[in-house]
Amino acid sequence: MDGRDLVRWVKAIGSAGAAQGLLSVRAAWRRRRADAAGLPTRGTERARVPGPVLTVEPGPGGGVVRFTRSELRITVAVNGAVFWAWDGAGPEPSYGLAGPAPEPDPRAVLEPDKDGAWRVVSERMTVVVSRHGAVEVRTPGGVTLRRDLPPRWWEPADGGEARWTQRSEVGADARFFGLGGRASGPRLRDGTYRLWNTDPGHAFGPGDDPLYITMPVQTVVADAATHLVFHDSTWDGSVILREGEEGAGSGHDRAGTTELRMDGGPLRCWVMVGTPARVLHTWASLTGAAALPPAWALGHHHARWGFGSEQEVRRIVGGYHERGLPLEAIHLDIDHLDGHQPFTVDQERFPKLPVLAEELRRDGIRLVSIVDPAIKADPGNAVYGSGTAEDAFVRDSAGRPVRGVVWPGEVVYPDFTRARVRRWWGGLYEERLSQGFAGFWHDMNEPVSFTAFGESTLPRSARHDLEGRGGDHREAHNVYALGMARAAYEGLRELTPHERPFIFSRSGWAGTQRYGGTWSGDVATGWPGLRASLSLVVGLGLCGVPYAGPDVGGFDGSPSPELYLRWFQLGAYLPLFRTHASLRAGRREPWEFGAAVLEHARVALVERLRLRPYFMTLAHLARRTGAPYVRPMWWGAPEDRALRDCEDAFLLGDCLLVAPVLDPGTDRRAVQLPRGRWYDTVTEKEYEGPGQVLIDAPLSRIPVLARAGAVVPVRGDDGGLALEVWAPARGGTGGGLVVPDSGDGWEEPEIERYVTRWEGKRVVVERDGEDGPGEPSYPVRVRGLGT
Ligand code: NOJ
Repeated sequence: MDGRDLVRWVKAIGSAGAAQGLLSVRAAWRRRRADAAGLPTRGTERARVPGPVLTVEPGPGGGVVRFTRSELRITVAVNGAVFWAWDGAGPEPSYGLAGPAPEPDPRAVLEPDKDGAWRVVSERMTVVVSRHGAVEVRTPGGVTLRRDLPPRWWEPADGGEARWTQRSEVGADARFFGLGGRASGPRLRDGTYRLWNTDPGHAFGPGDDPLYITMPVQTVVADAATHLVFHDSTWDGSVILREGEEGAGSGHDRAGTTELRMDGGPLRCWVMVGTPARVLHTWASLTGAAALPPAWALGHHHARWGFGSEQEVRRIVGGYHERGLPLEAIHLDIDHLDGHQPFTVDQERFPKLPVLAEELRRDGIRLVSIVDPAIKADPGNAVYGSGTAEDAFVRDSAGRPVRGVVWPGEVVYPDFTRARVRRWWGGLYEERLSQGFAGFWHDMNEPVSFTAFGESTLPRSARHDLEGRGGDHREAHNVYALGMARAAYEGLRELTPHERPFIFSRSGWAGTQRYGGTWSGDVATGWPGLRASLSLVVGLGLCGVPYAGPDVGGFDGSPSPELYLRWFQLGAYLPLFRTHASLRAGRREPWEFGAAVLEHARVALVERLRLRPYFMTLAHLARRTGAPYVRPMWWGAPEDRALRDCEDAFLLGDCLLVAPVLDPGTDRRAVQLPRGRWYDTVTEKEYEGPGQVLIDAPLSRIPVLARAGAVVPVRGDDGGLALEVWAPARGGTGGGLVVPDSGDGWEEPEIERYVTRWEGKRVVVERDGEDGPGEPSYPVRVRGLGT
C-alpha cells in the first residue's frame, strides 16, 4: 500500500464506514491473489509489423491485402462507413454494433494505386493502403484526413493476447473530441487519455481522467472534413493525443498525432467521413438509434442521496408545489433501500412507497430508483438466492464467485455478458415497478468494488461469459454497464410494453445510447466542475450518446448561491436537468439560496417547461438522425476555426445558441457567433455573426440566442403546442422541424416541416407538405420584429 492508497483507504472508510473499510482491505488482498493465480504472466514478447505487401484479393466493397506478417481486410459499407481490420478480424462479434455489420457497398473496389499501393474509392472517401501497411483516408477531393502508420503488435512468446499500437497522423489544423465522457474537454488537448471505465472515488474536476464512460471513439474536426474513428476493442488502453501546429504559411506544418495503445482485442476500426451531421448519422446507423426518453424525463428532476424518509420526500415536493416550481421526477438513492440492497425497500422509512408513488404521479411527478449491480452475498437476500440458482454471478479463474465490497457490504456481481443473466436481471425490475418506480438510475456499474489498494473494480482475471466465447474481466470490464443497461431495457420492454423505458447509467461504452442516457457522476462543486459538466455532455454527444446532464450544483460540498444559480441555468438547457448531491453535501433546493436565486431559478424552470416540445423534437431527431441535442458550436460550420476552439457555449438543436456563465462575477460575456443573424431571446436584440460579441448576462439569466428564421415548438399558454418564430433576416428565409409527441408510447409521429419568409412587411409561416405549403397546425407568435 503506498501513500496514495492509504489516503484512498482512509477516505473509503470515511464514506463507507469502518466495517466496510476492513472488508475492503480483505477484498483488495483477495483481488491481488486472484490475479496472481488467474492472469497469464507476460513473459518475453515478440514485436511484429505487417511487412511488405504480397498479394491482393478484391472482394465485395473492398478486399484483402496480404502482407508478409499480417493481412488487412477493408470493406466499404452501404452506410458509407469504411471498416478495416488486421490479422483476419471481422466486424463481429461486437458490443458496439447495434446488429449485424452493414452490407458491403458493391460499388467500392480495391484497385492499384501509385508506388505499389492499393486503394478503395467510395462516394465519401478514398482509402489508400501503402506497400508496408500504412492506411490513409482521403476526402473525395484528395485531402488526407488521417494516415495510420503500419501497426505494431507485441505477442507473448507463449501465445495469449497480443498488445498493439496504432499511431496516426491528422491535419495540422485538426482538433480532437470524444473518447467518451471527459472532464477536461470538449476539445481534447495534448495528453494521455485512458480507456478503462473508472469511478474516480471522489468528486472529480477537469483534472480527473479517466472517468466512468470511456470509448475508443474519436471525432476529429479539420478544415477538409470531420471524421469519426471507432477502434472496436473493449480492452484497456490509452490514447495519446498531440494537436498539430500550422506554420503560418511557412509551409512547415506539424501534423497532429494520435497513438492508440491497447492491451488486447482485435485491431479493427470503423471510419466515417463528412459533415458533423453526416458523421453522427452514420455512427448512429452503426451503433444504434438513441432510446427515446418519455416526455417527463425531459422535465426537471430532483434527487438527493439521503432523503431518508417518505416524509422528507413529501416535504421537498411540497416545497416545489408551494412555490409553484415545475418538477417532474424525484429520484430515490440507496438510502431508501433495506441495508443498501438493490431491489429492496427500507420498510421503516419508506413503509408505503407505492402509495407515495401514486400520490406523486397524480401530481405529474415520477419516481426514479437507483439500481446498483452488485448483490449482497447473503443467503437471506432474495436476489442473491435467485441469482445463485441461475448461476448469474461472475466467478474467478478457480470457479468461485468473485466477491467485492460495495454499499451493502460483501457482494457478488451479475455477469451481464451472458444472455441468460440479462434475462434474469431484466425480470427483477418487476419489483421496482410494483413499488411505483417509473425510471431507473444505474450506478456503481464500472463496476466498483471498494478497495484499500489497487483498482477499485473486479479482478482482471475474473471470468465472463462474453456471449459464450468465454474470457476475462480485461475484455468485459468496459462493457459491463452496457450489458446491464441492455438487460434493464429489454426487461422493461417486456414488463411495460407500452411505455418507453427510462434508464440512465453512470458507466457505459459505445452503443450505450440504445438503452438510455447517462449523467456526469460525482462532479465536484466548484466553477471548474461546472465547466466539466458541459464538457462531458458535449463530448458524449459526439460519441453518439445524446441524453446526459450533470448533478446541478455539484455532487459534494455547498455551492455559493451564484454558482448554484449558474449551474441551474446551464442545466435547464441540457437534456437531463437534475439537481443531485451527496449525503453530506449542503442543500440543493432552489429556495435554499435566497429569494433572488429562487426567482431566477423559477425563470429557468418555467422556460425549460415552455421549451418542452422543442426538447421532445430534439429527442426524436437524435433518435432518427444521430444528431445530439447539445452540439458544439462548430456543428454547422466545422471550417470556422474560431468556433472549433469555442468551448464555453453550445448549440441546442438548430434553433438556439446557449452561452452559459461559467465564471464568477460575470454580468456580460463574450459569445463567438456562427454566421448569420441571432436574437437575444429575452431582449430581442440582434447580433450578426460570424464573430465575437459581448452579451449581457445578469444574474437573472444566461444568454440564449435564437437563429434568425428559426421555428421553435414551445408550450403555449393553454398548455398546447405553439410555434415561436424568429424573423428571418430581410430577404432571407428560415424554418424548423416539429415532432409532436404524446409523451410516451411507441407511435412514430411524423416530422412536420415549417418554413418562414418575409412577404412584404409580414413574416409568414407555412407548413411544408406533399401537397404544397399549408397553414401551420398551431398558433404562431413571430418575434424579433423590432419596434
Ligand atoms: C455514486 C453516484 O455517483 C452518486 O450519484 C450516488 O448518490 C452515490 N453513488 C450513492 O448511491
